[in-house]
Amino acid sequence: MRPSLLLLCAISRYSGAALLRQESSLDPSQWDRSHEADANQLLQVSIALTIQNADIGVETLLRISDPTSPDYGQHLSAEDVVRMFEHEPKTVFHVVEWLGKSGIDQSRVQLSYGGDRLTLNLRVQEAARLLETTFYHQTHRETGRKQIACQDYHIPESLAGSIDYILAASPVQTHKRIPRQQVVLNDRVTATAPLPLGCLKSTTLACLRALYRIPEDVPPHPNNSFGIFEPSWFSWVPEDLDKFFGQFQRDLVGHRPRVDAVNGGYLQRNMTESIWYQEPNLDFEYAMALTSPQEVTNVQVGSYGRTGNLHDMLAAFDKYYCMTPGDKKYPITYPPGCNATACDCGSSSPPKVLSISWGWTEAAFTPNYLQRQCLEFLKLALMGTTVIVSASDYGTATNNGCGPFCLDDPTGSGTEGRFSPMYPSSCPWVTSVGGTQMLQPTDRRIAPAPTTNETAFRQKGTSGNTFSSGGGFSNVFLAPPYQISNVATYKDIEQEHLAEIQDRFNSTGRGYPDVAVRADNYAIVSQGNWKLASGTSASNPVFASIITLINSERMHMGKGPVGFINPVLYSNPDVLNDILTGANQGCGVDQAFRATRGWDAVTGLGSPDYERMRQLFMSLP
Ligand SMILES: *[C@@H]1O[C@H](CO)[C@@H](O)[C@H](O)[C@H]1NC(C)=O
Ligand SMILES: *[C@@H]1O[C@H](CO)[C@@H](O)[C@H](O)[C@H]1NC(C)=O
Ligand SMILES: *[C@@H]1O[C@H](CO)[C@@H](O)[C@H](O)[C@H]1NC(C)=O
Ligand SMILES: *[C@@H]1O[C@H](CO)[C@@H](O)[C@H](O)[C@H]1NC(C)=O
Ligand SMILES: *[C@@H]1O[C@H](CO)[C@@H](O)[C@H](O)[C@H]1NC(C)=O
Repeated sequence: MRPSLLLLCAISRYSGAALLRQESSLDPSQWDRSHEADANQLLQVSIALTIQNADIGVETLLRISDPTSPDYGQHLSAEDVVRMFEHEPKTVFHVVEWLGKSGIDQSRVQLSYGGDRLTLNLRVQEAARLLETTFYHQTHRETGRKQIACQDYHIPESLAGSIDYILAASPVQTHKRIPRQQVVLNDRVTATAPLPLGCLKSTTLACLRALYRIPEDVPPHPNNSFGIFEPSWFSWVPEDLDKFFGQFQRDLVGHRPRVDAVNGGYLQRNMTESIWYQEPNLDFEYAMALTSPQEVTNVQVGSYGRTGNLHDMLAAFDKYYCMTPGDKKYPITYPPGCNATACDCGSSSPPKVLSISWGWTEAAFTPNYLQRQCLEFLKLALMGTTVIVSASDYGTATNNGCGPFCLDDPTGSGTEGRFSPMYPSSCPWVTSVGGTQMLQPTDRRIAPAPTTNETAFRQKGTSGNTFSSGGGFSNVFLAPPYQISNVATYKDIEQEHLAEIQDRFNSTGRGYPDVAVRADNYAIVSQGNWKLASGTSASNPVFASIITLINSERMHMGKGPVGFINPVLYSNPDVLNDILTGANQGCGVDQAFRATRGWDAVTGLGSPDYERMRQLFMSLP
């Protein structure tokens, strides 16, 4: 057996869950290694097989979301999607054969529902022999989190094309939990009454409706659905929703989101810090009011003892992505919400529009892990779900949980180095939403765009940091065909400027964001107080609300949901308001990606105009 693949191996409490933390699990400099792991320590090992027909899936999605194709809007059923990605049985056979050579009997191996994942329990010494590696205990410098990990592992060359990644989890571990999120909430203005400020200074429902021409009277359709992802322990507060609705949307007082609890998801009320409530309050106040009386679903992921993440949500939507239960021969402690037979696999139906105001540093994961998870977003798109993701507020840096983070940054403070792209914005099968703000009277020397007075989002935070719209190019995902010509035009226009920063980013990568929405100073109620909150976390539910309303209008005409919208938008950029001024910032570059005519890597194609978008989407089959 010849070592062929050098993969980093992140071993932690619960495989997928552990990998989706915001801290950079794979950055060895963040971890202090101590003693070797006990040979008899039990690990839950999961071997993800390379998914079949990913290319056919991509080709199909591009065809059914191309507005000029006769197949436009022909979304697939869940059964069709399963059939499309079905596995070749001989791959499983080869992996089981490899395990057998290492003395691991096939009776210990379980195959997942979809046949694309093998799970088994191994003692540390068995896993170390199989993967030709050594397992250590290590502790995260910032969070104190403990895990068992190995540095590099090896698989036979003949299996290199068949295995996407291997995860292992030590079932019982404790660590200090530290909440992480990307939302920037500026508590600079706290008033006890609604803010009597105009739309240049703060954002309210009325401002958004006027700016983007969003109607108030779209009747909901019974087959429409709108979901918003929140991980534990981020919760909306009923009294806060009512105070907001009482001021701005009286018909909604007393209305609540429908809660879809994944893996024991629940609404907690016993944390005291405001950070736990602001994001969900913001999301549901605006999404519910903008789409009223559409029911809005809170996809609440993760339980009292276990943080929720995208992996868990996607597993709840797709049982074929789910982990199989562990081997009952060993005493395994299951996470709350899971037991020996169930872990919310395929227990939820995906909504027609899914809003995710959360993001993670792309560099914190192996490319294979991200490629595989991004295929789950492709599957949702194939079935007609629009996934809308915020681009973050750290410009060309990302928030890795401890502040701005850049790649190869010798300072460790996010002020030098290469730009750090954001996931899942960097996945080509979601719609990524960047931020804008209103040009102020003092900016008048800057000529506004013909259709809007918005400029790229950029604000000084209370900490002195500059926050600006996330945007840039992925290091993992190639530019998808639907954006190639728009991105090429951008590179032409910005040729000279981009030449100055060309070492900082990967010019072949997927460019994001796709669109942008106002991100500054949203009036919200949280923990009883009126506040102003800023960030692309606010932009995101607004764009998702607009797509939800358009879906209702289409359904009333007997048409299907819009599904994956990027190909339509990139070939019809005129339905958006092009943003022409401003730039994002990060990794020590003050003017990183600048807003220009057409698509750019800070405001995408621009901000929405409901009327023009509606006209376009109603004209499609
Ligand atoms: C909702 O969808 C179902 C299943 O596709 C369909 O049979 C039904 O007619 C739809 N309802 C309305 C009101 O269009
Ligand atoms: C917080 O709430 C949970 C669930 O409602 C409960 O189990 C836990 O004991 C509470 N913790 C505190 C410190 O009150
Ligand atoms: C496991 O959880 C599922 C879903 O919550 C439940 O239906 C089932 O009865 C549980 N099984 C056991 C063995 O506890
Ligand atoms: C931009 O602002 C100016 C001054 O308030 C206003 O006259 C103009 O109509 C605005 N332009 C657009 C496109 O909204
Ligand atoms: C640049 O991106 C492509 C895919 O988009 C990837 O294959 C390549 O490895 C990336 N290069 C670097 C230096 O990250």
